[in-house]
Amino acid sequence: MIKRTLDDLPKYSPWPARLLGLERWDRRTKNRAEVEREYQDEKWGGLLARIEESPWPLSLADLDRIMQGGDELVMYSDGEDLFEATAREVHLRYRDFVARTLLPYLPASALVELGAGYGSVIIDLAKRPEFAGIKAFGLDLTPAGAELIGRMSATEQVEVSSGLCDLLTDPVTDAAIPEGALIYTSYSAHYEPRHREDFFDGIARLGPKAVVMIEPCHEHCDDSTLLGLLRRRYIEMNDYNTNLVTLLHEQLGAGTVKVLDERKAAFGPNPLLAASVIVWEPAQPN
Ligand SMILES: C[S@@+](CC[C@H](N)C(=O)[O-])C[C@H]1O[C@@H](n2cnc3c(N)ncnc32)[C@H](O)[C@@H]1O
Repeated sequence: MIKRTLDDLPKYSPWPARLLGLERWDRRTKNRAEVEREYQDEKWGGLLARIEESPWPLSLADLDRIMQGGDELVMYSDGEDLFEATAREVHLRYRDFVARTLLPYLPASALVELGAGYGSVIIDLAKRPEFAGIKAFGLDLTPAGAELIGRMSATEQVEVSSGLCDLLTDPVTDAAIPEGALIYTSYSAHYEPRHREDFFDGIARLGPKAVVMIEPCHEHCDDSTLLGLLRRRYIEMNDYNTNLVTLLHEQLGAGTVKVLDERKAAFGPNPLLAASVIVWEPAQPN
């Protein structure tokens, strides 16, 4: 990896020009139909078709190469710093970051990812010695995602139960999650532009030990830096969530959750969409 600056970003990404209005880009609207089109029909549906058509069985590394990229150079952010690396290396570093972020909250009765996509993160975690022996669940909104997680769990020979979840319902899943689980999200909760006031209830209902949300947060964008302003605009142009942190603080004020950690823009596989870390647990009723 090589150190880079914000000034280098236009060499790697069309987004600075788009955000500055120099290249045409129409603001997107996110809604359920759009998310299902993007994931069920296009991305995860397309991956399933690739698996079916492939003359040899595709591994998780194959799916990662298709979805996350390979040897092309990209920029990413780690804390305040910007670097260049291959897309493949950045994805591996992101998964290491997720593993490091979750480890302090073990032991737990289970490890559950909500919005797990094709299972890149949860299946990788299940293969790591530090997470061995923990019952793992990879749940997604889309049947295509759940199907891919099931297939990858078989291909990679790890036990990860796959199933459906919806972060916008209460409870978020019918899967048999044991009490005391470590639940996490990674770039899935930000697909809802405005979460409802009771957003945290649907997850709290599962009785988790802790909930780790690794998500881009609009309220965490630093308006005193150029990078922070670009990040804010990027979220707005793509209609990603803008109220997760506000709701979290409201819940904290109401005494319904305890916040165990809150770290702004900690790691960004895309520097304009860096993930914050928010860790909370349901407050014990008095
Ligand atoms: C960018 S992918 C992230 C996948 C995976 N978490 C990762 O980090 O590789 C976003 C995922 O969030 C899922 N998603 C979007 N809205 C959701 C919702 N309301 N409930 C559950 N999953 C959702 C999508 O189906 C998709 O699989």
